[in-house]
Amino acid sequence: MELLQEKILKDGRIEGNDILKVDNFLNHQLDIAFLNEMGKEFKNRFKDEKIDKILTIEASGIAIASIASQHFGNVPVVFAKKVESKNLDKEVYETKVYSFTKGKEYSVKVSKRYLNEGENILVLDDFLANGRAAIGLKDLVDQAGANLVGVGIAIEKGFQEGRELLLSKGIRLESLAILDSIENGVIKFR
Ligand code: G4P
Ligand code: NA
Ligand code: NA
Repeated sequence: MELLQEKILKDGRIEGNDILKVDNFLNHQLDIAFLNEMGKEFKNRFKDEKIDKILTIEASGIAIASIASQHFGNVPVVFAKKVESKNLDKEVYETKVYSFTKGKEYSVKVSKRYLNEGENILVLDDFLANGRAAIGLKDLVDQAGANLVGVGIAIEKGFQEGRELLLSKGIRLESLAILDSIENGVIKFR
């Protein structure tokens, strides 16, 4: 997505050799008009699929998924919870996700009410790095007996192993922008 590449070059900031900060429009401040363009593009990529629900993970995926839903006929958006919550139902699907960034494993949960057998689920998220969050979401979909239609990602870090991991599990992956490298302050797209 040309527009996203331009946006990254204009508003993104690089940290070290492997982190792209996009707080300006995606991870802290939200550019709604721009998120809407990304939503349109996700719909375009998955236009031939029947989608019953969008699944994402808190926090940053929620905004992307919510706006994208409006291009998929306002299907419900379910976000998996990472943060312990007293109010979460007792009956949950749960999986463990290892975060390289944080160097630890965390638990991800969705109430059994909100993922059901036979539903066609599209997973959306902001970043794909090592793919562990996406695989965790696939595990929740599998536990529910639902059907994972594919994974849509705003920004894929092509120099990390996420794509390989997802494709090895037969998952359809659509990324709106793929970073080949961010070395010495220079961003290269695939
Ligand atoms: P993985 O799921 O692909 O294996 O990713 P990893 O554990 O490495 O990443 C952990 C968190 O860091 C995720 O957000 C991910 O979106 C984010 N992340 C990874 N690389 C980058 C990057 O270059 N730039 C930015 N801005 N974020 C990156 P999270 O902890 O789930 O947080 P949230 O933003 O959803 O709250
Ligand atoms: Na995320
Ligand atoms: Na994130």
